[in-house]
Amino acid sequence: MELDVKAFKKEMSNRKEYVDSCLQKYLHNVEIQPAVIHEAMYYAVLNGGKRLRPILVFEGAILAGSRRETVMPLACAVEMIHCYSLVHDDLPAMDDDDFRRGKPTCHKVFGEANAILTGDALLTAAFELMSLNAQVEGVKPAYLIRVIGEIARAAGSRGMIGGQVIDLQSEGKAVDYETLRTLHSLKTGELFRASLRAGAILTGMNEAGVNALDDYARSFGLAFQITDDILDIKGNEELIGKPVGSDEKNHKTTYPSLFGLEKSYELARECVEACIASLERFGPEADFLRRLAAYVLIRES
Ligand code: IPE
Ligand code: IPE
Ligand code: MG
Ligand code: MG
Ligand code: MG
Repeated sequence: MELDVKAFKKEMSNRKEYVDSCLQKYLHNVEIQPAVIHEAMYYAVLNGGKRLRPILVFEGAILAGSRRETVMPLACAVEMIHCYSLVHDDLPAMDDDDFRRGKPTCHKVFGEANAILTGDALLTAAFELMSLNAQVEGVKPAYLIRVIGEIARAAGSRGMIGGQVIDLQSEGKAVDYETLRTLHSLKTGELFRASLRAGAILTGMNEAGVNALDDYARSFGLAFQITDDILDIKGNEELIGKPVGSDEKNHKTTYPSLFGLEKSYELARECVEACIASLERFGPEADFLRRLAAYVLIRES
């Protein structure tokens, strides 16, 4: 599909601003004691970031015919889970990276122990926040419970954490395609899936619609992580805001390490085509998701 890149970037920055203003609301209390943990949580979340996962939560709700406000706590909660995962991912025991979103990583500023605790606090705060979504008018508790369960599963040992474990186990090893695909689907794909599903399920979308969005998010997550691997090689450090060459430094198996850049790009393109195909049942109301998928192939950050 033809993408007007300039217009799409503007559209993304509007959405990101809205997410930031929501997150600001939930993380404003940096003066609560102990101050250091609240400052570190604020630092780890309100430090840039594309806000893709909350944007997907909102999009799920909009496609179900609802409003963004209905799923706002949920949207902010998935971003907190994502930010926690980044704080831990950057720790010396994991990828040992010093920059994130163009700034020193959380452990560089607050120390390693505080960074571990910041991740813990963000993850638990996310569940507190999700429970608050019950107070929003029109939200059905049964749907919310289902969604919280799905997000918990996606973030845990059968989802993102499972992927991170396989990622670490695979360092310095020859990993086959099947394992690499699983690793990427788990560490990155699961939270994208849970995000888009969450917005749609909480606002009452039918199962066929949710399943179509699920297919989209699976392919989206894979395309996104393949391009993350590509940007780790040929990205512009200023634009991506994190060190280029982190994967090579850590002897990670990535799509480019297994297939080379060109073939990796080709595989990402196939995923994006699958994303667009999965939206067949939707009309123009899903055009944002179509543009978002196309954008993954040309993203610079
Ligand atoms: C980075 O995610 C980690 C991956 C799962 C690839 P993003 O590229 O979405 O990071 P931010 O939130 O925009 O910084
Ligand atoms: C991390 O993957 C995925 C997470 C669950 C955080 P990467 O290690 O490739 O993410 P970056 O490149 O550091 O953002
Ligand atoms: Mg990592
Ligand atoms: Mg990393
Ligand atoms: Mg990476």
